[in-house]
Amino acid sequence: MVEHVQAGSEKISDYAAVGGGAAVASVVDLFYQSVLADPQLAGYFADTDLTRLKRHQVQLVSQVMGGPVSYEGADLAAAHRGRGITDEDFGLVVAHLIKALEAHSVPQEITDRVVQALGATQGDIVTAP
Ligand code: HEM
Repeated sequence: MVEHVQAGSEKISDYAAVGGGAAVASVVDLFYQSVLADPQLAGYFADTDLTRLKRHQVQLVSQVMGGPVSYEGADLAAAHRGRGITDEDFGLVVAHLIKALEAHSVPQEITDRVVQALGATQGDIVTAP
């Protein structure tokens, strides 16, 4: 089956539209490259297994883009609990994600949907005043 062929009025997923798993993996690689290069954020990831983190983030982003992939990582509130993450940190992380999506020429409306879906996790992730 050719992934990009549209049958009737059926729309392809955002996941397929951006180029599938390889494209999402590339976005997530660039995303963590810039998160880890950000002096306000790098310290949070000092003890993190980055391979596992990236694998889970690829799953999560793929899932919110309607891809045939399920998130298998920890509950997001549990994964971020006790880390003292602030609203400002959260905003910086989202900005790095937007940059990574834009660098891969992901269309604005798809970027908006991804940011809206992941942005909705803010209440689970931000625990610092
Ligand atoms: C859009 C916002 C965010 C999303 C969607 C997100 C998503 C995730 C995911 C999927 C994981 C993997 C969990 C696992 O492996 O089981 C993770 C882990 C982690 N996140 Fe986030 N995150 C976000 C924001 C942040 C922010 C703002 C920080 C801190 C500045 C942060 C710090 C971390 C750290 C340190 C880990 C690794 C935890 C560990 O070592 O097990 N995240 N995040």
